[in-house]
Amino acid sequence: MNMIKRVGILTGGGDCSGLNPTIRGAVYRAQDYNYEVYGIQEGWKGLVKGNISPLSLSEVKEIVDRGGTVLGTSRLNPYKIDNGIKQVLDSIKKFKLDAIIAIGGEDTLSVANKLFKEENVKLVGAPKTMDNDLSGTDYTFGFDSSVTWAIEAMRSLQDSGRSHRRIMVLEVMGRHAGWVALFTGMASGADWTLIPEEKADIKKMCQHLKEVYKKNKYASVVISEGVILPGIDVEKESLDQFGHMILRNRGVGNLLADLIKKNTGIETRHAVIGHIQRGGSPTLFDRILGLRCGVTAVDLIAQGKFGYIAALKGSEVIGVPLEKAVSKLKVVDKKWWKLAQVFFK
Ligand code: F6P
Repeated sequence: MNMIKRVGILTGGGDCSGLNPTIRGAVYRAQDYNYEVYGIQEGWKGLVKGNISPLSLSEVKEIVDRGGTVLGTSRLNPYKIDNGIKQVLDSIKKFKLDAIIAIGGEDTLSVANKLFKEENVKLVGAPKTMDNDLSGTDYTFGFDSSVTWAIEAMRSLQDSGRSHRRIMVLEVMGRHAGWVALFTGMASGADWTLIPEEKADIKKMCQHLKEVYKKNKYASVVISEGVILPGIDVEKESLDQFGHMILRNRGVGNLLADLIKKNTGIETRHAVIGHIQRGGSPTLFDRILGLRCGVTAVDLIAQGKFGYIAALKGSEVIGVPLEKAVSKLKVVDKKWWKLAQVFFK
């Protein structure tokens, strides 16, 4: 018998737009099962520190249109700190949490998967990340909003580039997956896009940009922060607690603008959108996906389907094993890359 009374909810890893709708979806659905909901502050850190308190319907009523996460977030990995897991388990016991909803990307959900498998914690997940690099779901919430910001930024850059007869470069986030760059490039009409999955062909790109410039008197390029360009020493890059490179220091936008200027002789400028694309009001797509994932996460708990995430498959949000979501990073495949190249003309 699935005796659930109290459910804890946390958001971990990088924030993105769509987290608040997900929290709202879960809190509203919990009412239908008479579950009490407790908010865990700042991801796994809240369970380590015991920073947990009741989360009422009125607290989440007005948050569907708000970016970020009302619960706060962190990149703390409880497996990387002394006694971390013991503290997590103690908090679960102390606050009488019968089940936990972990909203996060690959890092947060990997911890959830381990806690479920090794410690028998009753966990379900919801897939967020602006990077869209999580397997097991067609899209993660946060992605649509972050690309929407990036295409707006690109429009401004293109206006300026067109006026000054320049080449404009936009550096976007996305870590080791090129989804954000690929979609930004395609949706903004960029002349070239560089993604981490494909080796940068600077010579070919510059030749193409020269031709475009001859016709249009300006050109635009999108580059993902994870691209490796000449001059980048991967060995020297610092790592976070999950072993990921901190890519913002790489400065690929700047490097690429210099390379383009050197190889084409055309004046080139760059901009880095950075964390601007992580905030702001969620798009319609992310609001609805977030709400649906929150609702389904609670349904999974009610069905006793622990070790699952609420994932988008086609047009349905269904339960998919956590294991599937975290087993391998979903990067841009050849089919998408080929499609993007259709527009390099
Ligand atoms: O994983 C989401 C993400 O926004 C990546 O695209 C980026 O590399 C990273 O987080 C930045 O992390 P932080 O917010 O810790 O600087």
